[in-house]
Order: sequence, then structure tokens, then C-alpha cells
Amino acid sequence: MEHKVQHYSRFMIVLHWLTALCVGIAWLLSEGGPAVVRNPPTWHFMFGLAVLLLVVPRIGARLAGGAPPLDAGSPPLLQLAAKVGHGVLYLFLIAMPLTGWYAASALGIPVTVFGVALPALTDPVQPPPGFVAELHSTGGSVFLVIAGLHGLMALYHHFVLKDDTLRRMTL
Ligand code: HEM
Ligand code: HEM
Repeated sequence: MEHKVQHYSRFMIVLHWLTALCVGIAWLLSEGGPAVVRNPPTWHFMFGLAVLLLVVPRIGARLAGGAPPLDAGSPPLLQLAAKVGHGVLYLFLIAMPLTGWYAASALGIPVTVFGVALPALTDPVQPPPGFVAELHSTGGSVFLVIAGLHGLMALYHHFVLKDDTLRRMTL
């Protein structure tokens, strides 16, 4: 019988790569310190908020069965690592934009999307930057490391284990 790759749904695949792109751009456009207040990185906010916008239908699609079952042939420990790892990635995809939005509000910076101001999530705090802003900035570095390891794992599956993991996430 011909070998058949079990793919994620097309919708989830598109959302996965769009999300990775937005996270990468948000990260590249991130700034810290007093410069953020003086000259808010509006594109950092917008790409970050896009991540939040994309994760909502993605979780819906996942709950609706858009993800194939994990490769039953792979070692149980690797399957567990994938489950936990993916859960942590989803957590960051939700927590990063929300803490960023909250941090901007706490710093007294208006968050605008194409010139339209979004509501502040909290009142400005004194002195800046505040706990959530610190959490967000540190979280950004942690996220990069985790997402990087995740990408490396995908490449390890593809080139070393030579299984279908990466193909599952391609159209
Ligand atoms: C996946 C999405 C996001 C990632 C990966 C991310 C990443 C980062 C990183 C790494 C920093 C620290 C930069 C530095 O110190 O040089 C930062 C700072 C910041 N981000 Fe984000 N961010 C995201 C989403 C957002 C969103 C949606 C907002 C606001 C709506 C936001 C608002 C801010 C603010 C205000 C700071 C400055 C905090 C401070 O000065 O202490 N971020 N972000
Ligand atoms: C910021 C960057 C990234 C984020 C936030 C991210 C997030 C995720 C999440 C949450 C899942 C689990 C999907 C689910 O089961 O519902 C996933 C799966 C996957 N990701 Fe990523 N990803 C990123 C970058 C990458 C990169 C760079 C690669 C490849 C080099 C990659 C390859 C894969 C593959 C192959 C899967 C499917 C794994 C499986 O079949 O179980 N991802 N990603």
C-alpha cells in the first residue's frame, strides 16, 4: 500500500506559518526601555496583535479536529515532549500579545491598529515599566528559544529521523 502522510488541515497549516511569520516580525520590531514610550513601535504592536487574532480560530480548528494524531510510531517520550511543547507554544501565543497590550497600557502608550486606538487594559503605573512589562520582555526571549528549539526538532525529525513530521505541516 502507498505510504500516506497525515496532514494538518490546510487551514491550520496556513495559520501555523502565518503565525510563525508574525511572531518573527514582532520579535524583530520589538523595543524596550524609554524609547518605547517616546516613539511607540506601532508595527510591533500590530504584528503581535495579529498573533492573538490568528491563535483564536487556530485553537477552534484544533478542537474541531484539524490536527492529525501524533505519529504512533515515534517513542512515547518524544510524543509526550511534543504534546507538552506544543501546549507551551500555544500558551505563549496567547500570553505574549496579552501581556504586551497590558504592558503598553501600563506604560501609558496607546495601542493603535492602522490609526484606530484600542482600549487600554489597565491604568498607567508609576514608576514604569512595571512587572507585566518585564514579564513580557523576558517572555519574548524565552519564547524565541522555545520556538527555535521547536523548529530545530522539526528539522531533526525531517533530516535525522526521516519521518513525516515536517510534511504534516506542509501543504
Ligand atoms: C507574539 C507577540 C509578541 C512578541 C514575541 C513580543 C516580544 C517583545 C520583546 C522581545 C520585547 C522586549 C524588547 C527589548 O527589550 O528590547 C517586547 C517589548 C514590548 N512589547 Fe512586545 N511582543 C509581542 C506582542 C506585543 C503586543 C501585541 C504588544 C502591545 C499591544 C506589545 C507591546 C510591547 C511593549 C509596550 C514593550 C516594551 C516593554 C518595556 O519597555 O518594558 N508586544 N516585546
Ligand atoms: C514562532 C514560531 C513557531 C511557533 C509559535 C510554532 C507553533 C507550533 C504549534 C503550537 C504547533 C502545534 C500545532 C497543533 O498540534 O495544534 C506546531 C506544530 C508544528 N510546527 Fe511549529 N511553530 C513555529 C515555528 C516552526 C518552524 C520554524 C518549523 C519548522 C522548521 C515548525 C514546524 C512545525 C511542525 C512540523 C509541526 C507539526 C508537528 C506535529 O506533527 O506534531 N514550526 N508549531
